[in-house]
Amino acid sequence: MSTLVIKDLHVEIEGKEILKGVDLTINTNEIHAIMGPNGTGKSTLAQAIMGHPRYKVTSGTITLDGEDVLEMEVDERAKAGIFLAMQYPSEVTGVTNADFLRSAVNAKRDEGDEIPLMKFIRELDTKMETLEMHEDMATRYLNEGFSGGEKKRNEILQLMMLKPQFAVLDEIDSGLDIDALKVVAKGINEMRGEGFGCLIITHYQRLLDYIKPDHVHVMIQGKVVQSGGAELAHKLEAQGYDWLHEELGIEAETVEQEA
Ligand SMILES: Nc1ncnc2c1ncn2[C@@H]1O[C@H](COP(=O)(O)OP(=O)(O)OP(=O)(O)O)[C@@H](O)[C@H]1O
Ligand SMILES: [Mg+2]
Repeated sequence: MSTLVIKDLHVEIEGKEILKGVDLTINTNEIHAIMGPNGTGKSTLAQAIMGHPRYKVTSGTITLDGEDVLEMEVDERAKAGIFLAMQYPSEVTGVTNADFLRSAVNAKRDEGDEIPLMKFIRELDTKMETLEMHEDMATRYLNEGFSGGEKKRNEILQLMMLKPQFAVLDEIDSGLDIDALKVVAKGINEMRGEGFGCLIITHYQRLLDYIKPDHVHVMIQGKVVQSGGAELAHKLEAQGYDWLHEELGIEAETVEQEA
């Protein structure tokens, strides 16, 4: 079993404190979901875990099996087994999806131990079939002109090819039609198991009908303010966040409005 531990994490963007002490522990074999109002720092947490240079960690720690993740460069984090599916995946002209995937897969392997081309192609075909993706998607430039839903599906294809230990999926369900939602959930459920832990950022309980989370957390104003089981997501869907604001005695404003 592996463990990703986030302790008292404070993160600033351009001098503004966004995360104000986040604590979270994710083990492999666990699926966690984070919900929370817009602008409360969910994507900031995802970017800080992956090591985006714009997000400055001012205090706190992130460790993977005791190793200091904050000391690692982005590529080292990927090699250590951390993966981020971004809320807004970027388009890359001139690099085909398949070439990108093969480079990414090989970057995680040792020199001289590159994946054999045929093996890569077979695996890519299988995963694309699982995700019901058109075969064109492999030879098109990475995300270029992909529809919103196609980009999200492609993020899950990357996940399935890279087989990270820990994945952070930022709004992987946004913009997906109902069939695509099921397909994406199928892909994630296929990853589920002993060597895989996952943090799913979402606004909607519906995704969690298909991927049953072991733990659900609520982030408000840069902190995890409540944790529970799958039932917490149902309660949020039905009642919104007002009851939590009331219960915790916090003003219902976003981090943004606060500044
Ligand atoms: N580059 C930046 N410069 C200034 N402020 C930023 C920057 N990136 C993020 N922020 C601010 O940080 C706050 C948290 O943003 P974040 O994207 O983490 O929210 P979120 O919880 O993911 O919201 P959503 O649910 O809308 O995706 C917001 O107020 C946002 O405006
Ligand atoms: Mg976000």
